[in-house]
Amino acid sequence: TSPLRLGIAGIGTVGVGVIRIVQRHADLLAARCGRPIQITAVSARDRSRDRGVRLGEYAWEDDAVALARRDDVDVFVELIGGDDGPAKAAVEAAIAAGKDVVTANKALLAHHGQALAEAAEGAGGVLRFEAAVAGGIPCIKALTESLAGNEITRVMGVMNGTCNYILTRMESAGLTYDAVFQEASDLGYLEADPTLDVGGIDAGHKLALLASIAFGTKVDFGAVKLEGIERISIDDINRAADMGFRVKLLGVAQMTGRGLEARMQPCLVPAASPLGQLEGPMNMVVLEGDSVGQIVLRGAGAGEGPTASAVMSDVVEIARGQRLPTFGQPASGLATPRPAEANTP
Ligand code: HSE
Repeated sequence: TSPLRLGIAGIGTVGVGVIRIVQRHADLLAARCGRPIQITAVSARDRSRDRGVRLGEYAWEDDAVALARRDDVDVFVELIGGDDGPAKAAVEAAIAAGKDVVTANKALLAHHGQALAEAAEGAGGVLRFEAAVAGGIPCIKALTESLAGNEITRVMGVMNGTCNYILTRMESAGLTYDAVFQEASDLGYLEADPTLDVGGIDAGHKLALLASIAFGTKVDFGAVKLEGIERISIDDINRAADMGFRVKLLGVAQMTGRGLEARMQPCLVPAASPLGQLEGPMNMVVLEGDSVGQIVLRGAGAGEGPTASAVMSDVVEIARGQRLPTFGQPASGLATPRPAEANTP
């Protein structure tokens, strides 16, 4: 049987992780997919940098759009990041060239996911993004596959590990927000633009995507009510603790009589609950369905292995010939959300 040929754009932390899995688990993947998975070509800005992984056997493109159009690429794996610019141009080129696309890019999808999904469906391609929401936690496939027999009543989650690190470390070490922000920076947790983390934007992108899948509505980042953690003080945290609560940057999306309500904001949760016990740079996604009840998924929302694990789940799905629409149902048929509040940040 013919191999599934990948072109990987962006060889940073996640790209290296994907390459490592494809190299290390070639036999396992071939057995599970019924066909080999191969990387044929890669692209990144800097060719000379040693990334600690074998790249010599792959064709190199300096330009991601050129990679996206290569005849020997079946699946374009976009790991560049950013909601505009090279990632968007390359994904659009891949879709136009009839390729399937796997991306970890929450910002791109939160802003352009609707248009990209419609374009992919029009071109007969598949667009997948398990890694874009809560890193290694398989929450997209949990909704589209495992819980397909349920009406989803609510989705919730801590979806930014950096914010969870900052909030839990402030409490456990009794440190100020500024001191722990500096620690997070030294540990390399923060995005290049830290506002994406502490302003709740990164987590808001993820909630917009999860809500779209859960409730069958168009992705609408502007309808997510957003509030970051910048103004949370050690006093807030201590007062909450005295009452048996913890402060979490919590996303909640649910359908109300007035429409889809989606909020990503600091919330008090009972200290003894699963969400309350989530420590450090971790993620938790809580899914509620009318038949299944509540499901709690906990895991790493970032990092090489966890994020690459999620990317590979999409690659395997495509290799097996599963061609579900991007949001679990045709993008053109998604309902227009009627936000409960006008929430543009
Ligand atoms: N910066 C994010 C986090 C990871 O801290 O969870 C990527 O979305």
